[in-house]
Amino acid sequence: MAQAIAEGCRSVLGTEVDVSYYLPPEQLVAFDAILVGSPTYHHDMPGTIKSYFEEAAVKNVNLKAKVAAAFGSYGWSGEAPKFVIEILKNKFGMNVTEPPFLIKYAPDQTSLERCSALGKRVAESLIHKA
Ligand SMILES: Cc1cc2nc3c(=O)[nH]c(=O)nc-3n(C[C@H](O)[C@H](O)[C@H](O)COP(=O)(O)O)c2cc1C
Repeated sequence: MAQAIAEGCRSVLGTEVDVSYYLPPEQLVAFDAILVGSPTYHHDMPGTIKSYFEEAAVKNVNLKAKVAAAFGSYGWSGEAPKFVIEILKNKFGMNVTEPPFLIKYAPDQTSLERCSALGKRVAESLIHKA
């Protein structure tokens, strides 16, 4: 899903994308938009993602007004991306796109095209802001 979203972003001329499992949170300030992917495990986001937000909060990383979105695959309830959105919006003051983008289990071709469209939309919104 992340790669398909990145491909959609790159289709907008002038957009540079970094796809990472982990970036030191202080490096996030260099980006105009941050899209966070999370699967749902036990009705929550994985502990690694929660600790990542903790680390960013402890380091006072300023993400205010940056564009943000959340996405993820799920099995039956899919809460995690919704929780991610709440954190990005309420803790970090980001300008989030709602609702989060959810795919049931593994994405098929149509879902991947929708991921790519999401990436394109986000990148275009940045161009229009510039
Ligand atoms: C141990 C475990 C717990 C899970 N708990 C949930 C859950 O609470 N809600 C849900 O919607 N999906 C749940 N799932 C399904 C995963 O969200 C789904 O398989 C998702 O596609 C995982 O993506 P990944 O395999 O890329 O990590 C669970 C899967 C596992 C293996």
